[in-house]
Amino acid sequence: MESLNFFNGYGKVKPSEDPNSLPNQQTIVAQKRRQITAITLTVVLTLIIGTIVGVVIHESVTEPPESEEEPSQIASNSAKSLKTVCAVTRYPESCISSISSLNHPPTANPLNFFNLSLQATARELSNLTSLPKELISKSNDKRTESALKDCISLFDDSVSQLSRSLGLMKVGTGEKVLTDMNISDLQTWISAAMTDQETCLDGIGEMGSTVPDEFRVKVQKSQEYMSNTLAILNNIRSLFEKFGLTMP
Ligand SMILES: *[C@@H]1O[C@H](CO)[C@@H](O)[C@H](O)[C@H]1NC(C)=O
Ligand SMILES: *[C@@H]1O[C@H](CO)[C@@H](O)[C@H](O)[C@H]1NC(C)=O
Ligand SMILES: *[C@@H]1O[C@H](CO)[C@@H](O)[C@H](O)[C@H]1NC(C)=O
Repeated sequence: MESLNFFNGYGKVKPSEDPNSLPNQQTIVAQKRRQITAITLTVVLTLIIGTIVGVVIHESVTEPPESEEEPSQIASNSAKSLKTVCAVTRYPESCISSISSLNHPPTANPLNFFNLSLQATARELSNLTSLPKELISKSNDKRTESALKDCISLFDDSVSQLSRSLGLMKVGTGEKVLTDMNISDLQTWISAAMTDQETCLDGIGEMGSTVPDEFRVKVQKSQEYMSNTLAILNNIRSLFEKFGLTMP
């Protein structure tokens, strides 16, 4: 029996074989300890998981605070971004409507907004160029005809200034667009186009009712678009900063 006892645990005897031991009590104490440990572990785990779930739910349910300053929030919302960009212009309403009508799919990048504003301006202008000729054919006033002829050549110049600007924007991917030199060129060309529209307006302004208001309104609108485009360009650095983006 010596060998059996050895295998049963280094000379110790099994509780059941020891008449002096209290097997039931020991077993109960051991079981209680295990139960208490298990309960404690369960409680601790529940608390930890509960805390994690609570935090996750809280974070997902809590709306991010309304802030104009948070760059990622501005950039994530195209309409909000456009509003921020157009806030630097003199005519924010026409800025927003002209750009958003071309902003498909929606983006939230100041350079793209500038590019779209430039395109909207070119469209507006190209829609205007045939008008003076039409008005001349209906006119019977030499001074009005002369003023409208001036507008024709001024619009021609405007169109070519905007074409140069649009050409500059057509760059290969990864190529730097907004170099100081390029920004300065764009400012010169768009300003020149604006001056052309202004000169046309001055000329027809003296003609009174011999030039329809509709024409004036259209020239003014094209000038307004140019003003918006130029304002975005003039503020492009600070806009990129505000959006937390680096200048391309
Ligand atoms: C161009 O002008 C026509 C007639 O004046 C107008 O109906 C049209 O909406 C204009 N298009 C754009 C793009 O401004
Ligand atoms: C814009 O700037 C780049 C880099 O300086 C230059 O290579 C490019 O010719 C410029 N574009 C125009 C139209 O001047
Ligand atoms: C500006 O828009 C034109 C026409 O969609 C596009 O070809 C050009 O790549 C754009 N330029 C930039 C710098 O995004």
